Amino acid sequence: MTQANITSENVLQSRGVERIINGQAVMDGAGVKINRVLTQPLQRRLDPFLMLDNFGSDTANDYIAGFPEHPHRGFETVTYMLTGRMRHKDSAGNEGLLSNGGVQWMTAGRGVIHSEMPEQEEGRMEGFQLWLNLPAKDKMREPWYRDFNAEQVPSFSTPEGAQVRVIAGGSHGVAGAVQREVTEPIYLDVELPAGARFSQLIPAGHNAFLFTYRGAVHVAGKPVTIGRMAILENTAGADGVTVTAAEDSRFILVAGHPLNEPIAQYGPFVMNTQAELTQAVEDFRAGKLGEEAHA
Ligand code: FE2
Repeated sequence: MTQANITSENVLQSRGVERIINGQAVMDGAGVKINRVLTQPLQRRLDPFLMLDNFGSDTANDYIAGFPEHPHRGFETVTYMLTGRMRHKDSAGNEGLLSNGGVQWMTAGRGVIHSEMPEQEEGRMEGFQLWLNLPAKDKMREPWYRDFNAEQVPSFSTPEGAQVRVIAGGSHGVAGAVQREVTEPIYLDVELPAGARFSQLIPAGHNAFLFTYRGAVHVAGKPVTIGRMAILENTAGADGVTVTAAEDSRFILVAGHPLNEPIAQYGPFVMNTQAELTQAVEDFRAGKLGEEAHA
């Protein structure tokens, strides 16, 4: 754990809660049970984020089939493993083991074919996968990939007792594991003891949401209970968000600068136009998605 000197984050006016979202139970991969929190109808509202999946089960049958080889093009995937072990392999030759507290950031760009398979046959598997869109100009860039184990994810605690892990962006003067231009994502995992408060500055133009996965928190007087996502208002003049724990709680807080570009999705391909999607499918069928780049 990196314990940095932190600066206080004074939020003068907190965003409120615009809407509470219940996740949808879905099956994905070869039969993995998932709570899909950010679904396709919310992509425009929560631009630049395309999807948030929360998986969590003590039953191997719910996850053991994993995600065998599949392609991606046009966006980034961020996998955050709270508990469990998952092996990642991709067509660019990258391989990594994602385990307790680890983060894997993959920029699919022009194309990656990868597999994400559990490396355990029993016990708990819990975590998140977030999809972050790429600006049109970067959708066909070279793929990029990085694994961070738990110790490599910057973290800090506040005098109020919040324990914060900074996956992307920054919080209280602590820079996260990954920084991105254009979408400027902030991705925090916050553990907050009952009664404690946590504030985070959020740029005015960012879309933002919070997902509670332990306990219950309040945002501007509204409860956000376990398993629910709160879409935060884009209130003019609000400079961040203040969260209070109603009980011992854990939540992720995610914010990003919207791209305001057309979103065209066909399964694991997210482009700007239908023609680009057709091209992605053709390239995949022709075996061009995972191949090495030629200058
Ligand atoms: Fe994937």
